[in-house]
Amino acid sequence: MPWLNDENRFWQAKAREVAENVVRPLAAEQDRKQEYPWRVRDALAEAGLFKVWIPKQYGGASEGPQNVLNLCLVVEQLSRACGGVGVLFAVNALGSFPLIVGGTEEQKKKYLPGVASGERLCAFCLSEKTAGSDAQALKVRGIPDGTGWRIHGEKKWTTNGGAANLYTVFAVTDLESKAKRISAFIVEKGDEGFSIGKVEDKMGIRCVPVVETRFDGVHVGADRVLGGKPGYGFKHAMETLDLARPGVASQAMGLAQGALELATIYATGRQQFGAPVSSFQMVQQILADMAQKTEAARQLIYAAAHAIDTGSPLVTKFSAMSKCFATDTAMQVTTDAVQLFGGYGFMKDYPIEKYMRDAKITQIYEGTNQVQRLVIARNLIRESASFKFLEAYIPREEQAIHDG
Ligand code: CAA
Repeated sequence: MPWLNDENRFWQAKAREVAENVVRPLAAEQDRKQEYPWRVRDALAEAGLFKVWIPKQYGGASEGPQNVLNLCLVVEQLSRACGGVGVLFAVNALGSFPLIVGGTEEQKKKYLPGVASGERLCAFCLSEKTAGSDAQALKVRGIPDGTGWRIHGEKKWTTNGGAANLYTVFAVTDLESKAKRISAFIVEKGDEGFSIGKVEDKMGIRCVPVVETRFDGVHVGADRVLGGKPGYGFKHAMETLDLARPGVASQAMGLAQGALELATIYATGRQQFGAPVSSFQMVQQILADMAQKTEAARQLIYAAAHAIDTGSPLVTKFSAMSKCFATDTAMQVTTDAVQLFGGYGFMKDYPIEKYMRDAKITQIYEGTNQVQRLVIARNLIRESASFKFLEAYIPREEQAIHDG
């Protein structure tokens, strides 16, 4: 990638080293056991990888307010080896971005250094049983109690839940207000009333826990309201997702890249009709399409990350486009990779079926791809004000009929 700078390449190489030395050898076993791989967490922390998106003044490695490009480069390398580890890592960015976009100086100083060192693992508690795509339909409540707030209710699909010791929890604090209905709270694992409920048994990303989290009157002081002011939770959630979605996109694209590499190696070694299957044009066409789509996803992700890191006003649209395109690509490419492995690809003895299973969730979490398309289209329609002059070139015959 010619336009990556030395620092980008440094983190990319470090992540690749951990991915090949630690992550890949453990991937199949961790997938079977469905347990959090603490050995992997230790290796990631030792390599300093949790620092990449955190600003330098809070113990991180980023010169700017965040570094999403470096985050994406790391997630891509980890996901080439194991999609579960890709999200195990990226979810710490998702869970700490609320502090970065909306935290007070004290909150940043208190929590971010621990995230950068890998001691504080994070989770993002937005979704509920009846609030998935409709993220404003939350039922978890935050109620003032004189000395702070009490949080009541249950969250669903908390990725990293149980392993994490820092949770950003979104709750309804003002039933009357539309714009300022929701607030974000910082909850720590040891807070009284906080517990882990059902632990999900999943199709993919099996090394990272996805759980229900319960809040039975969890008490937090006023200093644990994100940003020190209630009412900004939905805005902070949306801003966080803008920053985080290229990370899921990178998880997906890393999976696609890893599956492409395995499928290419397999096809060159597999003999049928007296020749390697990679010499057949139908197989070559599949490989070529896999490679093109994966590369297109990579370029879109890096562009989205660059847009975020340079403060572009097009962040929301680019972020959604990268997530949607890369995750649809991952599903196609990993499915094609299984096809190229033939009957062996369907078997768990071979590493490829895991890529397809790991890829599926990327089209669903951090906003389904239907939601991403909605976000892209809404932004496009809003931007159309800037090319309204094109109206002059459209005859609008139907308008004449309407006008009678
Ligand atoms: N940045 C800042 N503010 C934003 C914003 C953004 N990107 N997007 C919306 N807002 C603001 C709007 O300006 C609006 O503010 P005003 O009321 O002041 O005008 C307000 O938020 C409401 O916006 P909308 O009317 O657009 O909201 P909506 O109810 O129509 O919903 C949605 C929009 C895009 C569908 C949103 O609900 C959404 O993103 N849903 C998907 C939720 C999601 O991604 N969940 C993933 C959970 S995390 C996860 O999956 C983690 C994991 O496991 C790894």
